[in-house]
Amino acid sequence: MKLLITAGPTREPIDPIRFISNRSSGKMGYAIAEAAIEAGHDVILITGPVCLTSPVKAEVIKVTTSDEMFEAVHNRVEEVDLVVMSAAVSDFKPAKFIANKIKKNNAPTHLELIPTCDILLSLTKIKKKFLVVGFAAETDFLAENAQKKLLEKRCNLIIGNDVSRPDTGMESDYNELTLFFKNGEVRVLPRENKLSLAKKLIKIFEKIEE
Ligand code: CTP
Repeated sequence: MKLLITAGPTREPIDPIRFISNRSSGKMGYAIAEAAIEAGHDVILITGPVCLTSPVKAEVIKVTTSDEMFEAVHNRVEEVDLVVMSAAVSDFKPAKFIANKIKKNNAPTHLELIPTCDILLSLTKIKKKFLVVGFAAETDFLAENAQKKLLEKRCNLIIGNDVSRPDTGMESDYNELTLFFKNGEVRVLPRENKLSLAKKLIKIFEKIEE
C-alpha cells in the first residue's frame, strides 16, 4: 500500500517572527509513518514544523502553513491508496501578514482571523478513490464530535483522542485512541506508547474496506 500521512502542527504567520500554532508534537503521525514503513508500505510524510527525526525510507515533504500543507496533500494524493490526516492543521490564520516586525509600542490589540481550508473535507471533492483516515482531537463529547466528523468529512475511519489529558495525546509519548468506523463499529485502543499503537493502527488500516 502507498500511504500519505500528515503530521505535526501548522504555523500561520502574523509577522516575520510571530505565528499562531498549536501543541501538536507530530509524534503520533511520525509513529504511524514508521510503523507503515516497518510493515513494508510506501510512505509520503507531509509534516509541519516538529523536533523529530524523519523516518528513514519515507519521502518527507516539509511544510509550514496550512496553505502549504493543503497544496502538498493535493499534489500527491492521487497516487496513494490511503490518506492519514494526523496533522493538527490550524483552523484559523491571520487575515493579513504584516511584512515588518510589529513593534510593541505600535501594536494592535486585536488580531483579525480568517478560517483556513479544511484539507480533510476538501478530499471529498476528488474523484479518484482512496481510503481516508481522519483524527478528532477533542476535550468534550468525544464520541458525538468524532461521529460527526466521520460523516461530514466522509472518512472510512476517524481516530478520536482526548486532548484534555496530560498523560496521553498531544506532546505525550503515549496515547489512548477510540476508533469510529464508517460501518458503525467503535473500538478502543487503551493507553500505550505511540509506536505500539501505530503498529496496531497499520494492521487495522490494512483491513479497511470501502
Ligand atoms: N483537518 C484538516 N484541515 C483543517 C482542520 C482539520 O484537514 N483545516 C483535519 C485534521 O487533520 C483531522 C480532522 O480534520 O484529521 C479533524 O481535526 P480536528 O482539529 O479534530 O477538528 P476540526 O475539523 O478542526 O473541527 P473542530 O475545531 O470543530 O473540532
